[in-house]
Amino acid sequence: MSKYVVTGGAGFIGSAIVRGLLREGARQVVVLDNFLTGHQQNLDEVRSAIDLQRADIRNYAEIAPILSGADVVFHEAAIPSVPRSIDDPVPSHEINIDGTFNVLRAAASGGVRRVVYAASSSAYGDTEVLPKVETMTPRPKSPYALQKLVGEYYSQIFASTFGIETVSLRYFNVFGPRQDPSSQYSGVLSLFIKAVVERRAPTIFGDGEQSRDFTYVEDVVDLNLKAARAPGVSGRLYNGGNGGRITLNEAWRLVQQIEGLTIPANYGPPRPGDVHDSQADVTSAVADLGHAPRFSFEEGLRLTLAWYKAQQTR
Ligand code: UD1
Repeated sequence: MSKYVVTGGAGFIGSAIVRGLLREGARQVVVLDNFLTGHQQNLDEVRSAIDLQRADIRNYAEIAPILSGADVVFHEAAIPSVPRSIDDPVPSHEINIDGTFNVLRAAASGGVRRVVYAASSSAYGDTEVLPKVETMTPRPKSPYALQKLVGEYYSQIFASTFGIETVSLRYFNVFGPRQDPSSQYSGVLSLFIKAVVERRAPTIFGDGEQSRDFTYVEDVVDLNLKAARAPGVSGRLYNGGNGGRITLNEAWRLVQQIEGLTIPANYGPPRPGDVHDSQADVTSAVADLGHAPRFSFEEGLRLTLAWYKAQQTR
């Protein structure tokens, strides 16, 4: 029976991967989380089907036995957010770089077959050309972007020198149900949705003409499951995006349209470290991993809005 470990498995993306694994019939799914940004309630529906381990990836001795003997480790544990890595760089450095090193080291010494690493599109920085292709030289603009890039490099080095398979997936602005909108560092769509549900204006940083390849979480789950299985891809890096691009102004317009409301956004100064445009070239992920994004931005947005509204009435 294959064992799967999801680090950060109580988080927004990690818990979606846990549900995806169980849907596929996985029988031994271990969730490792320190509950810093993850929540037990993200796992409520599947609690009896998983092994939940409270542990911190900064502590090698604590995590090594949990990872040992796994077939695949999905490494989602991280402190996300570009601005958070600027305001409070120490924890994000320790978790995103040292923690990732600990996960890879524990996986290699514990006989794990493959680590699928949650990398970030922020590693590209501002490129002259769109869409962004894996062969472009990375130009990180923030501590967070650099930290996630170091994790990729470490993953590649572990694949080439420590006898373990690794695959890195550069996520492009993932959104969907369970994304936590409670912090100033939350993903922008969760903040937009919270604002519209509460009938108030969101704040857009800059002129709102910056664009993102917003990617629905279930497409990222599918990509992870494929990356766990695909043969001959160890040491490689793939974009985990949808291939589209939408500005923040357009996104807020669509949120209002779906809700049938007009609430003009407030505008604030541009955010330091912000990338202006982001869009994934998904050619390699499609060719090598069989990636097939299923959700358009609007479909994902409608599903996410419906989920947040259902939570309100619970
Ligand atoms: C970045 C990465 C993404 C990663 C994420 C983790 C890029 C292109 N993407 O996302 O891959 O998963 O970090 O945190 O670097 N904004 C507002 N108002 C708000 C909040 C945000 O206008 O209240 C704006 C931001 O200035 C930015 C955009 O919305 O232009 C998206 O911000 P956010 O959701 O925080 O994600 P990124 O920083 O793009």
